[in-house]
Order: sequence, then structure tokens, then C-alpha cells
Amino acid sequence: MADFVGAVDQGTTSTRFMIFDHGGNEVGRHQLEHEQILPRAGWVEHNPLEIWERTSSVIRTAMNARGLEASDLAALGITNQRETTVVWNRRTGRPYYNAIVWQDTRTDRIASALDRDGRGEVIRRKAGLPPATYFSGGKIQWILENVDGVREAAERGEAVFGNTDTWLMWNLTGGVDGGVHVTDVTNASRTMLMDLETLDWDDELLSFFGIPRALLPEIRPSSDPGRYGTTLPHGPLGGEVPLTAILGDQQAATVGQVCFSVGEAKNTYGTGNFMLLNTGTTLVRSESGLLTTVCYQFGDQKPVYALEGSIAVTGSAVQWLRDQLGIISGAAQSEALAAQVPDSGGVYFVPAFSGLFAPYWRSDARGAIVGLSRFNTNAHLARATLEAICYQSRDVAEAMAKDSGVSLDVLKVDGGVTANRLCMQLQADILGVPVSRPVCAETTALGAAYAAGLAVGFWSSTDELRRNWNEAERWQPTWSQEQRDEGYANWKKAVERTLGWVD
Ligand code: G3P
Repeated sequence: MADFVGAVDQGTTSTRFMIFDHGGNEVGRHQLEHEQILPRAGWVEHNPLEIWERTSSVIRTAMNARGLEASDLAALGITNQRETTVVWNRRTGRPYYNAIVWQDTRTDRIASALDRDGRGEVIRRKAGLPPATYFSGGKIQWILENVDGVREAAERGEAVFGNTDTWLMWNLTGGVDGGVHVTDVTNASRTMLMDLETLDWDDELLSFFGIPRALLPEIRPSSDPGRYGTTLPHGPLGGEVPLTAILGDQQAATVGQVCFSVGEAKNTYGTGNFMLLNTGTTLVRSESGLLTTVCYQFGDQKPVYALEGSIAVTGSAVQWLRDQLGIISGAAQSEALAAQVPDSGGVYFVPAFSGLFAPYWRSDARGAIVGLSRFNTNAHLARATLEAICYQSRDVAEAMAKDSGVSLDVLKVDGGVTANRLCMQLQADILGVPVSRPVCAETTALGAAYAAGLAVGFWSSTDELRRNWNEAERWQPTWSQEQRDEGYANWKKAVERTLGWVD
């Protein structure tokens, strides 16, 4: 048996390839960013061809750096930014349009129309999602209605849709020369088109968006011993490796954090923040603004579901300080700048750049910085940005406690922003519970590798995976209850100011 498992993590800002050994230790990696295309206010696009090119390149570079060959990999998994929508021509391999990214709000009219005539309720019941710009269904509808020739091509069966997992899987397995057109249950559960109980595309939901079934990939388990396909000898791995896992990135991080039991949760700090709570094989419907989603399905076992609190803008608010305001030169500097002041000086920043996701689901919200006085500096704004990441996570944690009746006694965290120790301390202070980070912070790629390795027997069970999890760092709350309550009350007031800003 080969010694390693590989995982492609196709994220919102970058694509990485990681290689893990049997202990879940990182053996190699390479990562490349891709362009964020912002053609208009509220629009966010990626170039799918650039993403495929970057994926090939990170695979080649990471493998070469370690002198590894395809035969060293027992299996390969794919994890991906979810919801981001690609439609391409299966004969030419050319996308009809740029990928429309999950953060893009151009479909706000499509989303609000769904809520006016009762279709929204059907979507909530069947798909577990509130109608929102976030999910793929409206994005596909927009492409069908606005890009010349796509609807006709879809009806001829020539146009195909996928999130970036499907796009990469198709290219890795042959592209125009017979690439497979598949996705997994976790990605499909983010489209507004799949019934959570049947795990199949639902004709009524498809009719809401005018989407022909022929456009859609086959839905498969997240870890598939029957393999979806095999990499090509002339592809970036230079040989044949079984492709045996696909998981949306947040679900993959839940697997990487070994949250396999009911009641276990993790919070990932990336471009946005995503808290997932494993609810087992029971479908729990949220009363508090959370999503019901598929957490994973391993082989022919029953699917495991999750409640999810999705926050659109967290790490990307720090990027905004860097790229749009120019007050920091890199993400790491946000910590140093924020540490120059003992608190945010009364400033609250609600980065509602894509409206507000969980638990509010208000596409009419836009960002606001409130509480300013002449005393305030860049340092206060940097600190308010870190606090905003943590307050948004508190909003979600409160909703989870309401829905599940269980309060967190520790929050497992991962993702790029967890390198910011001040932010993690603020998270413990704002939540009032300890925050714990594992040794492997790359839980997203690790989770995809675990799912791929389970499928081929590289790992024998989830118990074996649990033994690989080790805590690296823990932050304890230090704020008084009074300070915590006052800060949160102010945060809620600031959120109020952002609502109803656009029609
Ligand atoms: O739902 C969007 C999410 O999957 C994006 O994750 O890590 O690319 O920001 P990330």
C-alpha cells in the first residue's frame, strides 16, 4: 500500500494541494492564490480555467518538492469552496461564464422573489436552506437567463453545471475525453436543488429555478469505495490515483476535526466563518436562522447531518483592511496593530459586505462602522475587525444553543485566522468558553484526505482518525460577565444599523 493520501483544497482565495501520512501529519503542500474578479458592487467571480491551471500547478509542485510519484498516493480527495457555480460545455471544456462565487449578491431579486410566493417555504422544508443569494440554484438560473446560448445548450445536454469540486473532478478524470460529471451529497446540499431526505435532485425545486436535470452532476457519497474515477497518466499527478472523496470544505473541516459524534462542533475561520454541529443521522430543522446541511456520507452508510452557521465575511474583512483601506500590509499585521490598543475604543464594525448570513439572512444589510469619535485610530478599527469575527461567531453559537438545547463547553477552531492569537483570545472572551486549536490547523484538507483514505482502507475507522487529533493551544476567557454582556449588547445595536440599507 502507498504511504500517503493527497487532498486538493480549492478555496475562495487560493487552491492548495496537501499530502498526509498515516498519522495525519503533513508531508508536503503547495498553495497558489487566484484572481478575485469584482466587476461591479456585489459581484464576485473567479476564472474556472485559472482555478484548474492553479490546481494542476500546486499538485505538480508539491509532489516534485517531495520527490513523490502517483504510486505513492493511496487515494486523492477533493474539498472545495461550496456553492460557487461553474457552467461549461462538455464538448469543448470551455466555461460559458466566470464562476459566480458564493459571496456574489447579483441574485438578490431571484432570492427575494422566492420568499414572496411560498416557494421559499418549500425550499426551507426540502433543502433545509433559506432562499438566499449564497446558494447555487439562483446563480445557475442567472447564467441560464443572462448568458447567450446556455439554455439551449443545457437542453441539448451539452452544458453542464458543477461547483468547483465537480469542475476539478471532471478535468482530473479526462475533461473533454470522458471526464466524470459527479458531485457529493455535501456540495449538492448547498444548491437549494437537493431534497435532504432523498439525497436526489428534486423536480419541484428544479422547476423553481427553471433548471433542466441534464445540467446537473450525479450525486454520490462523500467517501466512495467505488471511486468516482481515476486521475489520468498525462494529468498533473503523472499517473493513476483513485479519486475517492469529495466534501464541501466546511464539512471536510468537520471531518478533519473528528467531530464524528452527535453534539460535536467546530468553527473554521477562513474568508468567512462556518460553525458546524454534528446532529447525527437526524435531520434537525433550525428555528434560529441556521442551515440544515449534509455533514458527510461515508460509503453506503446513512448520511450524517449538521446544523451550520455560515458567516460571509470574517477573514475577508481583514483582507479589506489590507487591500481596500491599505492600513495593514498583511493579515499578520492586523494582530500587531490591534494589540496597540487595549480595546476597540467604542468602535463596532459590522462587515455586512454580502448582506448578513446566519443567523440574520438579510440580503438588504450592508457594512457599517459605528461608535466613531475623533479619538479613534487605525488600531481601534483593526481591533474592531477582529472583534467582529468573534461577535459574528457568538451570534451563531447562540443560535446553535437555541436549536440544539446544548451549550458549547469548548469551541474547536481551525483555519487561517486562528494563527491570530489575539483574535482567538477575543473569541474566548466574547463567547465565555475556552477555544481549542489542534496541531494540524489544515483540517479542511485533512478531512478530505481522511474521507479519501477511509474509502480505500488506508485508515480503517473513524476511531483510528480520532487518535490523530491533538490539541496545540487553548485560550481561556478573561473578560468579566459584565464586560461580555455590554460588548454583545453594543454589537447587537451595531447590527441593527446595517439592516434595510438596500432595497
Ligand atoms: O460556503 C462557502 C465556503 O465553503 C467557503 O469557504 O474557506 O473558501 O472561505 P472558504
